[in-house]
Amino acid sequence: MNILGIETSCDETAAAVVNSDRRILSNIVLSQIDQHRPYGGVVPEIAARAHVEQIDGLIRQAMSGAALDFNDLDGVAATAGPGLIGGVMVGLVTGKAIAAAIGKPLLAVNHLEGHALTPRLTHDLAFPYLLLLVSGGHCQLVLIEGLGRYRRLGTTIDDAVGEAFDKAGKMLGLDYPGGPAIQAAAERGDAGLVNLPRPMLGRAGCDFSFSGLKTAVRRLLEKQPDLRPEDVAAGFQTAVGDVMVDRAGNAIHMARQFCPDLSHLVIAGGVAANSHLRQRLDELCRARGLELVAPPIDLCTDNGAMIAWAGVERLAAGLHDTLPDALYAPARARWPLDPDATPMPFAGKKA
Ligand code: KG4
Ligand code: ZN
Repeated sequence: MNILGIETSCDETAAAVVNSDRRILSNIVLSQIDQHRPYGGVVPEIAARAHVEQIDGLIRQAMSGAALDFNDLDGVAATAGPGLIGGVMVGLVTGKAIAAAIGKPLLAVNHLEGHALTPRLTHDLAFPYLLLLVSGGHCQLVLIEGLGRYRRLGTTIDDAVGEAFDKAGKMLGLDYPGGPAIQAAAERGDAGLVNLPRPMLGRAGCDFSFSGLKTAVRRLLEKQPDLRPEDVAAGFQTAVGDVMVDRAGNAIHMARQFCPDLSHLVIAGGVAANSHLRQRLDELCRARGLELVAPPIDLCTDNGAMIAWAGVERLAAGLHDTLPDALYAPARARWPLDPDATPMPFAGKKA
């Protein structure tokens, strides 16, 4: 089974072809970072326009990279949300058009499900497992019990963790995006010289909060303007690490009440690229008798292969609409993985 996957929910235009034997036949990602850099964040209108300009050529490239004709596809998967609505519409409409032209199923995929199922593509991981999704738009701990069975244990009540990295990076005068820049600066810094809060640490449950940490960085820089950015970066990264370990630790405890045999913690999303956080989570997992699974970095950040793979799983399980009904699948700015989770009004501004 060959599935084309299309991803346009944030600032990457991406297309990939994946087959049911877990082979990635092509995987093309075009980042818009240079277009958003002058604004220090993703501008929705610029993103939507850039997706429109690139999507056709990118899909052609993905098809020729896979050495397939459109008629060799068994279905088309496209991100239908959550994300920046203009961008989501571009990818979803394109996917619908291709599906209609070749008369094959359209799979309207939840972007978060794409991240959630990636370790099954890369590591053939069996259900259940605990997912820590940390990106520019999300910070969630979700118990992945089966296909379509997702239990959100915790989420951010304000900013996503990647957003906090990006904002702190901006305050420190570092390059955009702030995450990789903070990691690089932190390697030359001394976390011990900087005193920052650890929001939510020690609290029950496993929700996150990062807006207080961001404000604390600003105040610190106002009060002590001659602090070295490297030291603040190291202090910030260590504070985030402490919070992650505390929250993930509680989540493991909660998850074991539902799944006593839980054996894996998966980390995904752009912030999963952070080697300090990976190391801290690895230590936590060892102490709790779990294995940490981290997909390769290019499959942790937004990509088309994860959407194609979610399509493979859904099609194989018969969890899809047939034409023409599938063509009415809506684009959604918000679309929680766990429909029973309480909505967080200020969180999840971008996917
Ligand atoms: O998953 P992603 O590529 O896009 C979405 O937000 O969906 O994640 C991007 C985020 C940005 O906030 C970026 O600063 C952060 O991931 N990031 C990192 C690192 N690399 C990327 N944060 C911390 N350390 C890193 N090494
Ligand atoms: Zn994402």
